[in-house]
Amino acid sequence: MQCYVLILLLAICTCVQCTNAKTARHSFGYEGENGPSHWGEDYDTCKGKYQSPIDIEEHLVTQVELPAIKFEGFKSEPTTNTLTNNGHTVMLQLNMTKMASLSGGPLHGNYIFTQLHFHWGSNDSQGSEDTINNHTFPLELHMVMYKETYGSFDEATRHKDGLAYLQYSMRYTMKRIRTRHLYFTYNGSLTTPPCLEVVTWIEFKMPILLSHSQIEAFRKLKSEEGFMTHNFRPVQPLEGRPVWFNVMDKENNAPVLQQTMGFMLVSMLLIYMR
Ligand SMILES: *[C@@H]1O[C@H](CO)[C@@H](O)[C@H](O)[C@H]1NC(C)=O
Ligand SMILES: *[C@@H]1O[C@H](CO)[C@@H](O)[C@H](O)[C@H]1NC(C)=O
Ligand SMILES: *[C@@H]1O[C@H](CO)[C@@H](O)[C@H](O)[C@H]1NC(C)=O
Ligand SMILES: *[C@@H]1O[C@H](CO)[C@@H](O)[C@H](O)[C@H]1NC(C)=O
Repeated sequence: MQCYVLILLLAICTCVQCTNAKTARHSFGYEGENGPSHWGEDYDTCKGKYQSPIDIEEHLVTQVELPAIKFEGFKSEPTTNTLTNNGHTVMLQLNMTKMASLSGGPLHGNYIFTQLHFHWGSNDSQGSEDTINNHTFPLELHMVMYKETYGSFDEATRHKDGLAYLQYSMRYTMKRIRTRHLYFTYNGSLTTPPCLEVVTWIEFKMPILLSHSQIEAFRKLKSEEGFMTHNFRPVQPLEGRPVWFNVMDKENNAPVLQQTMGFMLVSMLLIYMR
């Protein structure tokens, strides 16, 4: 783990300089004519019925007891890693001898880690994509996983159960929150075009705590249009979809989850430490 962190540090330090450099051309944005309300003009699938993000109303969720989520390989060192600013977000990709993977919970089959990225807002009163009881958080992390049996991320996007997204919200508070490792889960879509409805969302209730300046650092990233001050899609209609809340907290799973969160937190802190 130590070594892993050092490697990550090096990669991120070299890379963050390039994150404000030229970025790929892109056809969607978060403002005006390119904004979320226009995505459907270029991408039919963004007009779908079962889109993400959504507002989760806690009093309406169905309580379920799902099998424990199994995290595998999240502690091993990546052979290479790439941090990119793609003009929409900052994204971390890793190569590992055996890629980290996830199974259990609401998932059927094994899902392979492919990248993680962030969504944030122009000020602390907004930024997260999914909201809980209409409450937003300043920053949200998405870990993108694809189903192993489909062989690749691209192929997986052609199947309803192709992708799993783990979602963690970030907030800053001095108060120690003792929420256990509980999560919401529902079926939805990518939150950026082409908005494909192929995602099992797993949203952890326990937040990751950050400082104001750590979150501020994200707003200083640039795309061709200037500062990426915000990059979240507004909530979409639920359309009667069930949202489950997993109340099962298998004791033996907790330490692994904790480490996974630690791993992500470290990568974020390092972004800030540039
Ligand atoms: C992973 O390794 C492959 C083959 O070595 C390379 O082409 C690719 O760019 C690497 N990806 C990342 C994210 O470093
Ligand atoms: C945050 O930004 C939004 C959008 O620009 C704005 O409507 C809102 O008033 C801002 N909130 C605060 C507390 O500054
Ligand atoms: C959230 O907003 C929606 C739409 O405005 C409203 O129907 C709902 O009651 C709100 N939920 C809470 C918990 O305030
Ligand atoms: C998500 O879709 C799968 C089928 O693809 C279904 O078995 C599962 O119950 C759905 N999950 C929720 C929370 O509705």
